[in-house]
Amino acid sequence: MIADHFPPMGLRLNTPRLQLRMPSDADLAQLADAAVSGIHDPEQMPFVVPWTDQTPGRLAQGVIQHNWSAMAAWTPENWTFNGVAVHEGTVIGIQDMTAKDFAVARQVDTGSWLAQRFQGRGLGTEMRAAVLHLAFEGLGADAAITAAFDASTASRGVSRKLGYRPNGSRLISVRGRQVHETRYLLTREEWERHRTVPVEIEGLEPCLPYFGLGELPD
Ligand SMILES: CC(C)(COP(=O)(O)OP(=O)(O)OC[C@H]1O[C@@H](n2cnc3c(N)ncnc32)[C@H](O)[C@@H]1OP(=O)(O)O)[C@@H](O)C(=O)NCCC(=O)NCCS
Repeated sequence: MIADHFPPMGLRLNTPRLQLRMPSDADLAQLADAAVSGIHDPEQMPFVVPWTDQTPGRLAQGVIQHNWSAMAAWTPENWTFNGVAVHEGTVIGIQDMTAKDFAVARQVDTGSWLAQRFQGRGLGTEMRAAVLHLAFEGLGADAAITAAFDASTASRGVSRKLGYRPNGSRLISVRGRQVHETRYLLTREEWERHRTVPVEIEGLEPCLPYFGLGELPD
């Protein structure tokens, strides 16, 4: 099995309605379908890189290659856990968590999207809570950060519910227009105070060195 050679592929985060896992190729095919089904209203662009402004075929291929690329680039010093969100047996979106020099910095950054028809039911909160549980409970993080545009109401709602606080802002160009992005910070203390989603982690132990916590096997 691939997890025998690359343990993060065997990591599972289970919440009441979701399982998060790094994607198999079959999962990536479903993730591409989810992206093509629509993520946001076309007039809006919630992403810094407007990667959803593509034809369906290119969008699907881009989703697959982006995720292969993240998995191929994994090192203990610079990793991305790209957890597809599986709901009732189908991949409906993705929640990623990235860190650089985690062993020392103890900070993670997150990003996510769900197919539009699954939004607004609390699933976005559940999947963010899942990776935060991995970060704080499983890996011993001290802080998590994220960022969202002012128009990204749901993303900001998830951050607020889970205890993040605004932590600065920047102005950037998106689709050739000026956009105000707010950064958010979640401390370990606030994470503890806002834990509401039960999360179970499976298969973490062999992954720890891959997150920078201990020596990789020979
Ligand atoms: C961001 C995203 C993953 C959040 O997932 P979600 O399942 O829609 O969010 P939730 O249902 O968990 O909502 C969390 C909170 O946001 C708020 N919220 C959600 N949708 C909202 C809406 N349309 N209007 C106002 N508030 C909203 C609510 O306060 C909600 O809290 P509540 O459950 O107490 O009411 C999802 O909406 C998405 O994929 N959006 C498009 C892509 C995107 O914006 N990605 C993030 C880029 S920064």
